[in-house]
Amino acid sequence: MLFSLHVAALGLGFAACIAAQDSTFEPPDFNVTQALIDQGVNVSGLPELGSLTKRSSISACSIACDTLRLLFRSSNVIAQGSQAYNAFTDAYWSIQQESVDPYCIFKPTSATQVSIAILLSRLTQCPFAAKSGGHAAFAGASNIQGGITMSLEKINAIQLSPDKKTAAIGPGNTWFTVYTTLQPAGVTVIGGRVSAIGVGGLTTGGGISFFSNIYGWACDNVVSYEVVTARGTIVTASATQNSDLYFALRGGGNNFGIVTKFTLNAIPLPGGLMWGGGRVSTEDQFDALIDAFYNVGVNSPQDPNAAQILSFAYAQSADLNIAAADLQYAKPVANASIFDEYLSIPAISDTTKVRTLADLTQEFNASNPDGLRETYWAATYKLNKNHTASVRDIFFEELDSIKDAAGLVPAATLQVITEGQLAGMTKNGGNPLGLSASAGPFLLLNTNMMWTDAADDTRILQANQRIIDRTVALAQSMGLCEDYIYMNYASQFQDVIAGYGSANQARLQSIAAEYDPRGVFQTLQPGYFKLAGPPSPTGP
Ligand SMILES: Cc1cc2nc3c(=O)[nH]c(=O)nc-3n(C[C@H](O)[C@H](O)[C@H](O)COP(=O)(O)OP(=O)(O)OC[C@H]3O[C@@H](n4cnc5c(N)ncnc54)[C@H](O)[C@@H]3O)c2cc1C
Ligand SMILES: *[C@@H]1O[C@H](CO)[C@@H](O)[C@H](O)[C@H]1NC(C)=O
Ligand SMILES: *[C@@H]1O[C@H](CO)[C@@H](O)[C@H](O)[C@H]1NC(C)=O
Ligand SMILES: *[C@@H]1O[C@H](CO)[C@@H](O)[C@H](O)[C@H]1NC(C)=O
Ligand SMILES: *[C@@H]1O[C@H](CO)[C@@H](O)[C@H](O)[C@H]1NC(C)=O
Ligand SMILES: *[C@@H]1O[C@H](CO)[C@@H](O)[C@H](O)[C@H]1NC(C)=O
Repeated sequence: MLFSLHVAALGLGFAACIAAQDSTFEPPDFNVTQALIDQGVNVSGLPELGSLTKRSSISACSIACDTLRLLFRSSNVIAQGSQAYNAFTDAYWSIQQESVDPYCIFKPTSATQVSIAILLSRLTQCPFAAKSGGHAAFAGASNIQGGITMSLEKINAIQLSPDKKTAAIGPGNTWFTVYTTLQPAGVTVIGGRVSAIGVGGLTTGGGISFFSNIYGWACDNVVSYEVVTARGTIVTASATQNSDLYFALRGGGNNFGIVTKFTLNAIPLPGGLMWGGGRVSTEDQFDALIDAFYNVGVNSPQDPNAAQILSFAYAQSADLNIAAADLQYAKPVANASIFDEYLSIPAISDTTKVRTLADLTQEFNASNPDGLRETYWAATYKLNKNHTASVRDIFFEELDSIKDAAGLVPAATLQVITEGQLAGMTKNGGNPLGLSASAGPFLLLNTNMMWTDAADDTRILQANQRIIDRTVALAQSMGLCEDYIYMNYASQFQDVIAGYGSANQARLQSIAAEYDPRGVFQTLQPGYFKLAGPPSPTGP
């Protein structure tokens, strides 16, 4: 009885703080304790809640984690200092995320367990993070210092519908598992291009696939989401159910709930077979590569089976500027004529061949090793060949000041957001990204760098900031401005949601006010790109 009184007092306090909110989804008198009872968890019978009055985040998280351990298998609630804990944090892609130490790691096995964890976080005010594939680069994106890191790895079903039109996929999967599981049925889904990437992060942030010129981005091929909301209810978001939430989830990131099932359009891919690989060329071919990139980008509607990624890079050990043209074709057809210009450019290595989608994602995974310091940055501009060449030049100019950094592997990766991709964004009432089909096609820049020594962090981050600032300023002067910043490539210093445009930002905020009026996903899950601003408001 004493314990439930404390809890009741907390619940009242929160209600008072947000009296101005007007949500029908979560009423102002929403009672977290009762919501937990509704999920079969009677917290008034649990020990330690009395100490909640102290309200320090350490005691809050010790209570929350102890409660999770009482409720669920202890192997699914991992404490600091154990071997399982170290193995878990070591498995993040970047060192920056590995270096974050959660109070405990929780591995829910169902949407209900996710719901209970969110409600316990609300009850105790212990903050949390959610992890799918763990490939977001910066610290705290999917791991949380001193809080509960919820790893979705055990929510990993893959279920193809009997008519093979859709596949229901848990966020605990990597794309490799998804592709290899679906391959025998002769179908696949619109997902990531590197095997180890998670379904959860890629799909909630957008998601560019080898097949996006035909079908659009991953987020635009989600038929429905099963999502655990801030009030702990498990709802479906689709074109017909909670359609505002459905809109928000197609690019709104982790701001609206934790997705426990993505039902995705399935597409035919007999035998899993396609064509693709990488061609590496030297600096004397750079201008020809820009020409080929531009032409494949603008000609994409003539053959949307073709896809491309062009990266300019610096090979430190050889002190050589190089470029890698990664080319793909959505059918097992070699050397499609749309690639003639590319294929006439001399290459010092070439891995293109007919192969499975899964195999191609493994080749890309091999060139993205984990365990290094990492940064990703993004910018978008209207596609213009001269500007694209200047982006390359600015990248190499800014590289001069950091090219001696230990273990540096820097790249400026260019893609075209094609007419086909933009057409996909108009499906199902459109998404919140704010990209207008009539203003495209666009150039998408992703600067990405790996290095080894933390002492180089600041100058490397600052060089990336300068590349973004200078290429955006040049775009402004050439009338090529586009505010969109791709969430899945953005750095912690970039304001992704503002880049969607003020109308989309306001609409996302009002949808969040309905489904999450207390701002649980803004404050108790503080990591990643929030509706009101970037994770690190001051630059590097
Ligand atoms: C090597 C490499 C290759 C890449 N290739 C591609 C590519 O081909 N196409 C592309 O578009 N992008 C690509 N990306 C970018 C990639 O989409 C993002 O890094 C993405 O965030 C990774 O997803 P994840 O699940 O692995 O990451 P995580 O770090 O686990 O998650 C990223 C964010 O998403 C949130 N999140 C995860 N799951 C859920 C969920 N179920 N519900 C709500 N929120 C959730 C997390 O809380 C976190 O904030 C690549 C990145 C890398 C490093
Ligand atoms: C919340 O629910 C619990 C359990 O039903 C109850 O004991 C408590 O009084 C409720 N609190 C408020 C503020 O209504
Ligand atoms: C919850 O537990 C308390 C204390 O153990 C008990 O008094 C109460 O009846 C329980 N409530 C429910 C709904 O089971
Ligand atoms: C495709 O082109 C490459 C050279 O770029 C050549 O080696 C290969 O034989 C060609 N394949 C087919 C099937 O034409
Ligand atoms: C991707 O590469 C890493 C090594 O950096 C490896 O540990 C991991 O198993 C690979 N993932 C897949 C799905 O092949
Ligand atoms: C690109 O630059 C060249 C010469 O620098 C100029 O002639 C041409 O008009 C420019 N094209 C565009 C589209 O800006």
